Amino acid sequence: MVVNQRLLTLGIESSCDETGIGIYSSEDGLISHKLFSQIELHAEYGGVVPELASRDHIQRAVPLIKEALIDSNIRLEDLTGIAYTAGPGLSGALLVGGSIAQSLAWGLGIPALGVHHMEGHLLAPLLQSDQPQFPFIALLVSGGHTLLVEVTRIGEYKILGQSLDDAVGEAFDKTAKILGLGYPGGPALAKLANKGIEGRFNFPRPMTDRPGLDFSFSGLKTFARNTYINFPKEKANIAKAFEVAATETLTIKCRRALEQTGLKTLVVAGGVSANISLRSTLNAMAKKLDVDVFYPAHEFCTDNGAMIALAGHFRFLSGQRNDHYEISIKPRWSLEELQSV
Ligand code: KG4
Ligand code: ZN
Repeated sequence: MVVNQRLLTLGIESSCDETGIGIYSSEDGLISHKLFSQIELHAEYGGVVPELASRDHIQRAVPLIKEALIDSNIRLEDLTGIAYTAGPGLSGALLVGGSIAQSLAWGLGIPALGVHHMEGHLLAPLLQSDQPQFPFIALLVSGGHTLLVEVTRIGEYKILGQSLDDAVGEAFDKTAKILGLGYPGGPALAKLANKGIEGRFNFPRPMTDRPGLDFSFSGLKTFARNTYINFPKEKANIAKAFEVAATETLTIKCRRALEQTGLKTLVVAGGVSANISLRSTLNAMAKKLDVDVFYPAHEFCTDNGAMIALAGHFRFLSGQRNDHYEISIKPRWSLEELQSV
């Protein structure tokens, strides 16, 4: 079933440490988005504290929804559907977004739908005018996931490879912690790496010496720790060696996935897709292979509500809905379990 009426979808993201709200219109695209990042709240603990994250989402979500409505000149009653992140993520945090979405939807008599956080990331490049065409390879790189996915169309995903241990964002964060940088470590490590000399240290490119598309990043962090113990004054060079090894490893596997499938389009999304060094290594590889690469706009690389509104929009558009108003979440959820649209 394809819906003809104008759709106005509210998206709510609360899977980890960002409360994100987006409003997506079938006529005008993304018309508003708001974000509150809990970085300061968790910084003193050096990582996300789940209970604190849930409590903060409770405080932030409704005021942000109000702001998004005011900004876009939309009344609550104009909404036609509400999408929320149902997983993967922290259970308590997901329950906050799910409860707010289902209660609002029930009150308004409109459907609410739980969407997959990584599908949101994967679709984020479709928020801009220059869009990738299906089918394509997606490299999803975040704090919780490192996935290489063959995307036939929305909802039809085949996982070609994934990390067997730490996600690449997690490895950035842990290495940053070892080097005494702040939380979240990814951007801080990237900044320090800019001051480092390439080639001073040579870190391994894990699992690139054997066939396959899986990843392993926990060894890089250990390599960084050992190097730091021996060379405590060379933080920037260690950050550089880590970043080069991580980005080259991702690029080698992307190249393999593109060659293996013969696809000519690559989408890169998730928090680590903001990394400049990764982008330039991938772009150089793609140029050689005559492949087009698409990234989300910088503000939509990391967690946000706009990508959840968009993912929900496509699903509502295809007639998917859930009128039971159950607060259902899936803290563990594979992209391959999704229904195609
Ligand atoms: O997608 P995201 O916001 O949240 C998850 O779904 O996990 O990704 C957050 C991750 C963190 O590990 C963060 O350190 C990393 O993305 N990140 C970066 C950069 N910006 C964010 N890693 C490397 N370089 C960056 N510029
Ligand atoms: Zn994310």
